[in-house]
Amino acid sequence: MTASVESRILLIIGGGIAAYKALELIRRLRERGVFVRVVMTEAAQRFVTKLSVESLTGNRVYNDLFAPTDDSGMGHIELSRDADLLVVAPATADLLAKMAHGLAGDLASTLLLATDKKILAAPAMNLRMWLHPATQRNISLLQKDGVVFVGPEQGEMACGEYGPGRMSEPADILAAIEHVLAHDTHIPLPAELVRNQEAASLLAGRRMLVTSGPTHEPIDPVRYIANRSSGKQGHAIAAAAAAAGADVVLISGPVALADPAGVKTIHVETARDMLREAEAALPADIFIGVAAVADWRVAETAHTKIKKDQKQTPCLTLVENPDILAAIGQRSKDRPALVVGFAAESEKLEENAHAKLIAKNCDMIVANDISEAAVFGGENNEVVILTKQGKDSFPLMSKQDVAVRLVAKLAAMLGGTSR
Ligand code: C5P
Repeated sequence: MTASVESRILLIIGGGIAAYKALELIRRLRERGVFVRVVMTEAAQRFVTKLSVESLTGNRVYNDLFAPTDDSGMGHIELSRDADLLVVAPATADLLAKMAHGLAGDLASTLLLATDKKILAAPAMNLRMWLHPATQRNISLLQKDGVVFVGPEQGEMACGEYGPGRMSEPADILAAIEHVLAHDTHIPLPAELVRNQEAASLLAGRRMLVTSGPTHEPIDPVRYIANRSSGKQGHAIAAAAAAAGADVVLISGPVALADPAGVKTIHVETARDMLREAEAALPADIFIGVAAVADWRVAETAHTKIKKDQKQTPCLTLVENPDILAAIGQRSKDRPALVVGFAAESEKLEENAHAKLIAKNCDMIVANDISEAAVFGGENNEVVILTKQGKDSFPLMSKQDVAVRLVAKLAAMLGGTSR
């Protein structure tokens, strides 16, 4: 189902400056004929008026837990029962904390607890609130509960600071709504994990190394070469492996994510640092290279800031960075039993991924098509898994679900080998 005349959305507007963008979202949903009902928190009504929302939706706005919509007094349950999807935008730090901990003190949080419908949240807050371990903990809990996230984006904030925390633009939230409605992103745990009562010990006694995030290759003390990796997929894999009992070392480039619980996280900046730490962390049973390592670095980093007022624009000479995955895959000593690479491809997905499997001497390549979905920084991923024996495809699902399934698959592949 895409967002169309048949769709019914319950939009919960939290109290943040980004609430004004919710009005634009409603307008775009209404343009597509989507039925939109809105619940506003008390704080949201300080930022936008009920009247504006009611004019745009053509429906009354709900905000009172104790004002039932029907005679049974179960108005709040009815509100979410009636919807195909619950959208929280802006999802403030306060609302996310309430959702993560099952608090139900007002109509918005009560509805979010009293539902079995899919929830899509668009966080918006000051960057320090977003980066705070408490918020990051809440986000991980909610992701485990199946809540899908869109954003937040990096950028200039209403408070004048710059960083992650801006709510996604209405067009992006709309695209995420269409995605969630079109694909059932709620994937039950893989059969292997459900059947196996010992899910928590699938990888007990195993050691796993994971690289995640981008690398930053300095040009001078203030500038660097990098790419768009958020680290979400790599961190989710490290967390899922730790949950399955593995001893996990995560080697992470600069990311705006909290270190996963129960994982030894080593922070690095450059590809060369990442390779050094990966080699130092061997031996391991599994190596998974999820990091989007910068392919090049400048031949010589300037020790002082390169001035703009030079007569000529600076000419950067690039040299190739080490390929960490290939270096680990091709080791003769201490090569992990399973070496797994990721391949983000925008064309000839399987052909290119297969070439990487061979060239880097991997046991598995997890390939994703970056030409379609907003994979970088997004919450979902659709992957094809290639091994020398064959291929397997996972449908579109959250990065957490990809991680859990991948861990189950790797545990099964390692099965017979000694611990
Ligand atoms: O060749 P490409 O960059 O597409 O390969 C992607 C895979 O190789 C990923 O698993 C990535 O972590 C790994 N890689 C690496 N070191 C590099 C480049 C890529 O480990 N310098």
